[in-house]
Amino acid sequence: MKRWLLLGVFILTINDASAANLYAGQTRAAAVCSQCHGIRTPSADAPFPQLAGRDVAYLQLALKQYRDKVRKSDLMNAIAGSLSDEDIANVAAYYAKLKP
Ligand code: HEC
Repeated sequence: MKRWLLLGVFILTINDASAANLYAGQTRAAAVCSQCHGIRTPSADAPFPQLAGRDVAYLQLALKQYRDKVRKSDLMNAIAGSLSDEDIANVAAYYAKLKP
C-alpha cells in the first residue's frame, strides 16, 4: 500500500516537471520565437525555418550552436545569446511536441 502511494507521488512529480517545462517553453515561443518562426508553421512568404515537430535533439543542438556562435546567423545569434540551457531545453521540447 505504502509502496503504491510512493509510486503515485513519484509519477505526479515527473508529470509536474515536464508540464512546467513545456509551459515555460510555450510562453517563450509565443513571446519571442513565434514572431519569426510562428507556432505551427512560419508565414509562407518568410525565410524562417519551421520548428514545429522537428527533432528535439536537433533543435537543442541548433540553439546551442547559435548561442555559442558556432553557427552564424545575426538574428539567431542575438536571440539565442540570452538563453540558458534550461530555456533551450524547454523551448525545444515545446516545439518538438507540436504537430506542424
Ligand atoms: C527575428 C526573427 C527570429 C526570431 C525572433 C527567432 N528566430 Fe530562429 N531563426 C531565424 C532565422 C532567420 C533562422 C535561419 C538562420 C540560418 O540561416 O541559420 C532561424 C533559425 C532557427 C533554427 C534552426 C532551424 C534549422 O532548420 O536549422 C532554430 C532551431 C531556431 N531558429 C529556433 C528559434 C527559437 C527557439 C526562437 C525563440 C527563442 C527563435 N528561433 C526566434 C529567425 C528568428
